[in-house]
Amino acid sequence: MAATDGPLSGQVAFITGAARGQGRAHAVRLASEGADIIAIDICKPVSDTITYPAATSEDLAETVRAVEATGRKVLAREVDVRDLAALQQVVADGVEQFGRLDIIVANAGVLSWGRMFEMSEEQWDAVIDVNLSGTWRTIRAAVPAMIEAGNGGSVVVVSSSAGLKATPGNSHYGASKHGVVALTNALALEVGEFGIRVNSIHPYSVDTPMIEPHAMMEIFGKYPTYIHSFSPMPYVAVNHDGKEGLKEFMQPTEVADVVAWLAGPGSSTISGSQIAVDRGTMKY
Ligand SMILES: NC(=O)c1ccc[n+]([C@@H]2O[C@H](COP(=O)([O-])OP(=O)(O)OC[C@H]3O[C@@H](n4cnc5c(N)ncnc54)[C@H](O)[C@@H]3O)[C@@H](O)[C@H]2O)c1
Repeated sequence: MAATDGPLSGQVAFITGAARGQGRAHAVRLASEGADIIAIDICKPVSDTITYPAATSEDLAETVRAVEATGRKVLAREVDVRDLAALQQVVADGVEQFGRLDIIVANAGVLSWGRMFEMSEEQWDAVIDVNLSGTWRTIRAAVPAMIEAGNGGSVVVVSSSAGLKATPGNSHYGASKHGVVALTNALALEVGEFGIRVNSIHPYSVDTPMIEPHAMMEIFGKYPTYIHSFSPMPYVAVNHDGKEGLKEFMQPTEVADVVAWLAGPGSSTISGSQIAVDRGTMKY
């Protein structure tokens, strides 16, 4: 598809946590549908309490290469969602460069494991500060520019299955992901008058570095009843990419399909909604 042909042609998307995983998939997908991209990521460890490998500058550079390969432009910068001033600066620079802001994907997040009555204050603070307060800072930094641009828009808040149900062993993560639902729904009411829609997505088990099978197995080994809260993905006979077989994990590109739908005109009646992206797993 030529870069100018997509449904998001002429639009601009701001994506946090865009160096790898789902954030990169969203950047590439929205660009392939015609949007220019403002991509930020911390590109270094967030806290000693996060045990999986951090994203790197090279990861963000790979996102830039992949977006540019679609023919769209990208402004990428190493920014921490715990730094409001830096978020505001990159939004201002992006709007200066690209002229407007239409789509926000508040995707940056971290995960760790432990029982709530045993975890350290640092473990609690890292997850809440990035996932909940970082989502608020993203909104605080970017929504005024979207209103100012005057074209309406779509805000996609990346929550989780843990934002809709109990997840013993990561209650701080669940608290943060339930918290962003409150932000989503209140913001939908606050910005509807500007033609801006706001929705949250709730993925379950996406194949990214955040998922640490050994950490989950350790928790389930210690507290076997917790496993009931983490149902396996149902069997999918034919996936959307035409490949057959059992896929326990979803791919980031499958989540990006949903983000592109929420960003685009096909979801124009949807605001203040929680969209499960879980192949029905939460119904178990
Ligand atoms: N992987 C899953 O199964 C799953 C399921 C549900 C929801 N989620 C959510 O999806 C989102 C994306 O996660 P992912 O699965 O792609 O994992 P990931 O670890 O690959 O990606 C998260 C990205 O966010 C960035 N980030 C973390 N803290 C940041 C900060 N303070 N400032 C800026 N960037 C920061 C990381 O550097 C990383 O590139 C997260 O919000 C996560 O909670 C993931």
